[in-house]
Amino acid sequence: MIFNRSKSMPDDVPATLDLDRIPKHVAMIMDGNGRWAKKRGMPRIAGHQRGMEVVKTVAKAAAEVGVEVLTLYAFSTENWKRPEDEVGFLMKLPGRFFDTFIPELKANNIRVEIIGDITGVPTDTQRVVLDAVAQTADNTGMVLNFALNYGSRAEIVTGVQEIATAVAQGELAVDDITENTVSQHLMTRQLGALADPDLLIRTGGEERLSNFLLWQSAYAEFVFTDVLWPDLTADIFFDNLITYQNRDRRFGGLVENKSNQK
Ligand code: IPE
Ligand code: IPE
Ligand code: MG
Repeated sequence: MIFNRSKSMPDDVPATLDLDRIPKHVAMIMDGNGRWAKKRGMPRIAGHQRGMEVVKTVAKAAAEVGVEVLTLYAFSTENWKRPEDEVGFLMKLPGRFFDTFIPELKANNIRVEIIGDITGVPTDTQRVVLDAVAQTADNTGMVLNFALNYGSRAEIVTGVQEIATAVAQGELAVDDITENTVSQHLMTRQLGALADPDLLIRTGGEERLSNFLLWQSAYAEFVFTDVLWPDLTADIFFDNLITYQNRDRRFGGLVENKSNQK
């Protein structure tokens, strides 16, 4: 089906993408940087560098079509297992990224948010990241939410500890613990009603979550693509959104509950 376009919409957006049914929250596992570099006989960090440029492309494409939250998995709690020089490079990437991209974030009204244990990253990385959050805090458009030193199991453990403490201190009754209580004690609580992704995309060919948004993805639609993250383009991203729009989201009910349908 071909959908109408307003005059302001650039013609790089495919006419088969329905702008009235864009997923509100898109989460992406940016995988395949190392293999992209290896294929070219380059060091793995060259893949991460190229991947950083793709983050800019995808962030602008997502904002352009009206995605409200774009969560990007940048560094997992398990990625510390990698060689020291690779980890060191990954920790410097936020600095390089925001150095060159803050003006465009501002121009596109994009607000930066972070999930993950930011206290566990080097202090200069912390500083640039918190500075980017502060500098874009007044922006009212898309939230660009980076998962940095993020692990969903650690997130859930912290949440359970907070809830248990509230119970032990007599502030919360066990019977009053609901799904909403748990959601409110996860790092995504700052996203409010948009905490749960509608669509989760993983590039790089692996079909697993690797400890990403375990609770929040309960009813997400999954798209796995063999495209390596550094090869991702706005066109491929829009194709993934079209794939989402062709899914039936039933949430355990019947077809008429499809929230990605009109
Ligand atoms: C994803 O690419 C980036 C991070 C995990 C930081 P990889 O570095 O995992 O690339 P592959 O999977 O080895 O190709
Ligand atoms: C997942 O990719 C983490 C990020 C993209 C930041 P990995 O490459 O670390 O995942 P595994 O090791 O293949 O599961
Ligand atoms: Mg990988």
